[in-house]
Amino acid sequence: MSHIRSRFNKPAGKKVIEYTTSLPFDCRLYPQDIRGSIAHARMLAKQGIISNSEGHSIEEGLIAIREELDSGKFVFKPELEDIHMAIESRLFEIKGDVAGKLHTGRSRNDQIALDMRLFSKDCIRAIIEAICNLEHAIVDQADANIEVILPGCTHLQHAQPVLFAHHLLAYFEMFERDKQRAKDCLNRLDVLPLGSGALAGTGFNIDREYVARELGFSRISANSMDAVSDRDYMIELHSVCSIIMMHLSRLAEEIILWSTSEYAFIELDDEYSTGSSIMPQKKNPDVAELGRGKTGRVFGNLIGMLTVMKSLPLSYNRDLQEDKEGLFDTFDTVLLSLEVFSGMVATLQVKADRMKDAALSGYILATDVADYLVAKGLSFRQAHHITGRLVNYAAGKAKQLDEITLDEYRQFSPAFDEDVLAITLNYSIEARNIPGGTSLQQVTRALKQARALLENCEL
Ligand code: ARG
Repeated sequence: MSHIRSRFNKPAGKKVIEYTTSLPFDCRLYPQDIRGSIAHARMLAKQGIISNSEGHSIEEGLIAIREELDSGKFVFKPELEDIHMAIESRLFEIKGDVAGKLHTGRSRNDQIALDMRLFSKDCIRAIIEAICNLEHAIVDQADANIEVILPGCTHLQHAQPVLFAHHLLAYFEMFERDKQRAKDCLNRLDVLPLGSGALAGTGFNIDREYVARELGFSRISANSMDAVSDRDYMIELHSVCSIIMMHLSRLAEEIILWSTSEYAFIELDDEYSTGSSIMPQKKNPDVAELGRGKTGRVFGNLIGMLTVMKSLPLSYNRDLQEDKEGLFDTFDTVLLSLEVFSGMVATLQVKADRMKDAALSGYILATDVADYLVAKGLSFRQAHHITGRLVNYAAGKAKQLDEITLDEYRQFSPAFDEDVLAITLNYSIEARNIPGGTSLQQVTRALKQARALLENCEL
């Protein structure tokens, strides 16, 4: 610390150090920080800004420090402000004065901008992989239960029967879009900020393209002031993660409902259930509930980051240090949620009979009866009216539609024939044989397409 405070007459106050330090959380950026420093040192040597032997010595020191950090032997000194200072100061201890040459042509402003981009890239890759695993679990469940029927709902009211696989594959679509959004975000953030210096660039003859290649960036930033203060990609990443959590929370909600004794459409595996400390009979869906609940903090982190950036003047301001904890928390939360949900979905038991019984109640075939009348020549509005009267009559008699006789049907319209009695759940599902519909043929095709997409899941 002392070597960056030479213009001061006294050390920073204890509380001030506590307030300004980022070491307790940015320590997790050490792999990215060291990767960046090694690439920078190699470039300095290649350009003749430092000698080859100095470059080697610095790289050797950095590798040794990474081993200390990997094995937990590294001693963090709380008086050092951040991970950059902690590593540099250890480099001095190991390698002596040559350590002082590493920071040539670089500032902590472009260094942290680099570390966070490297971290975000790693983070997006991990999230995409975790989404793929969850998608696998969804597709496998859909496949294993391909003929299971459940009542499809709108307004949480029985609407039309659908295949359970069709319902599950709706989530596959959501998670596919999440992956696309993550990839878009990755593409936009794939820019090397290093070489921007504190804000204005550097007077040293550095080779930014070389560093970009070394670190796997596809391009370099075009404006040094923007590069050290841009956190747009983080806001995008927060949004990507928020939408993933929103999707998980929808799935969570359905899982919670389905596992109630009122629905009893599914049973969660014991490994994914928790008990009650007082009620011995309880089997609670806490995993799903926590997924639903953790969505709140991920949304909060998005708003937090937007608020940090609002009205921030160019270029680097220390406010930007507040970009880290929220992003780390969001990344950890989303990744673990995806992993746990994969297991929960993969292991849940589907109770096909319960779903079917539920689908048989509640006049869920009324649309099919109306469509039947349209096929017999009535307008849809007439058909809708007649079927509404019929349902009203059946409800009054406490009968389901399959308990209505042909004579009763004919009291509502002479257009009803014997074949109206053939309207069943399967009839209804098979009738919807258009692309995107719920017929067995369409869902089987959708399942095949989903599997094909999962074949090349990597980036
Ligand atoms: N800990 C700082 C951050 O996270 C690193 C950059 C420090 N730059 C500075 N000018 N103090 O943003």
